[in-house]
Amino acid sequence: MIRIGSLRRRLFLWNTLVLTVSLIGLGFTIHLVVLSDLTKQSDAHLLVAADTAASLATAVLSQDAKTASQANDLIRKVHSGMGGSSQESAQIPGMDARSIDSRIKIFNPDGQLLFREWFKSRINDQPYDKESLQTALGGTPEFRSIQVGGDRFRLLSKPVLQDGNVRLVVQVAQSEAQTELGVQQVDHALLHMVPIAIVVAGLGGLFVSGASLRPVKRMVAAVRKIDAQNLGQRLTVEPDKELAELGTAFNLVLERLDSSFESQKRFIQDASHELRTPLTALKVNTSVALSGPPSLEEYRTALVGADRASDRMMRLVSDLLFLSRTDAKEIPLEMERVSVTESAEAVVEALGAQAKQKGVDLCQRILEDLSVFADRFLLDRLLTNLVVNALSSTSAGGKVSVMAARNDAIVEILVSDTGIGIPAEHLEHVFERFYRVDSSRTRNDGGTGLGLSICRSICEAHGGSIEISSRLNEGTTVKVSLRA
Ligand SMILES: Nc1ncnc2c1ncn2[C@@H]1O[C@H](COP(=O)(O)OP(=O)(O)OP(=O)(O)O)[C@@H](O)[C@H]1O
Ligand SMILES: [Mg+2]
Repeated sequence: MIRIGSLRRRLFLWNTLVLTVSLIGLGFTIHLVVLSDLTKQSDAHLLVAADTAASLATAVLSQDAKTASQANDLIRKVHSGMGGSSQESAQIPGMDARSIDSRIKIFNPDGQLLFREWFKSRINDQPYDKESLQTALGGTPEFRSIQVGGDRFRLLSKPVLQDGNVRLVVQVAQSEAQTELGVQQVDHALLHMVPIAIVVAGLGGLFVSGASLRPVKRMVAAVRKIDAQNLGQRLTVEPDKELAELGTAFNLVLERLDSSFESQKRFIQDASHELRTPLTALKVNTSVALSGPPSLEEYRTALVGADRASDRMMRLVSDLLFLSRTDAKEIPLEMERVSVTESAEAVVEALGAQAKQKGVDLCQRILEDLSVFADRFLLDRLLTNLVVNALSSTSAGGKVSVMAARNDAIVEILVSDTGIGIPAEHLEHVFERFYRVDSSRTRNDGGTGLGLSICRSICEAHGGSIEISSRLNEGTTVKVSLRA
């Protein structure tokens, strides 16, 4: 069905319009070519007739024909040689007998009629066309179309030169009826063929456009079936190049949607799972406190447990909020020049007690005073996360150091430890949300698996990057690159 505004309708209309204009143009060209061709043929015929008449006239004027009857005889011969009739009535059809009664007229250099093709009762000494005669008397042959008594004739006025002077002028006229008839026949054929061609090609175009849009309909039907439940479905890629590109692009969008949908699902599952642990702890502690008459000590233990659980929940929720806000680019950055040396010093100082308690040597070894253009609070949070990770993975006697160096327009901050290291298969996942190498152990330590995700978000928000390298049982180094 053709609907208003449909692509198929537009294709059909444009196709038909272009075809109509082209066919009309072609028809007009054919008309002109046929007209010019037939006129050329007629002109060639007039030229032969004029040349024959010219030789006749030259002969008559020479010694060959001295009397009028001899001249007349010669004229007859030439006329019959040219295919004319020997009857006086062999007048060109449609010609006005009073003005033109023969096809050939010959004039002397003064413009007076010498001969006509043959004599008739009503003699007309006038030239077929005076202007044309004058041109020929000037020595230039001329073809032109003339109108006589409502009919059109093709006329050749040809001078006969002798010693560079015009000796005679031959005028030969021929009806254009034949030419007009030929052109009319061609026009007639075109007038019938062009509309038929337009209708046939238009219907063909309609069929072709319908066939070429069929794969689009198939794609639309397939797309309609896709919803949130079956995002894993893919479109069949059609063989046509353009539709294959569309199908591939759509499949890529589906793939991205699918993976973001999946990661969102995983994120919600992970977040719920993470929240369940402290919630369970909270519930267990409150249940213990409420069951039976507990002692003061039991109350206290339950409250401490509940307090820890709510601390953990608060941390988890605030980390999640921070990540979702950086994802949505909602964290306003207060950019300023921040001394990396001072920041590192502050973090080392803040975590010094924790390191000492663990028996780990924590130090900063930044030799020059380096600064970056960053948000001070976020830089501190980044360094704290990295140092806390390093400390929790390093046992007594180990070492954690913060170093920094300038590399062109970049400041590289390195947080290294001599801790347990990360197995190679886990290394590429540690920046994922909720990812922990040893989930049971770190959960007991209080880790939620969001620290490195937050570090990466902070780096990206600053237009920087973060990398991690590690060797099992040897240690780990995290490199942060920020603009100086
Ligand atoms: N320096 C390190 N040495 C060894 N393992 C590390 C180091 N830093 C991170 N990891 C591993 O990568 C995991 C992810 O670290 P991340 O900081 O994201 O989470 P977390 O420290 O477990 O929890 P959170 O930082 O949210 O409290 C950690 O659980 C740990 O297994
Ligand atoms: Mg951490």
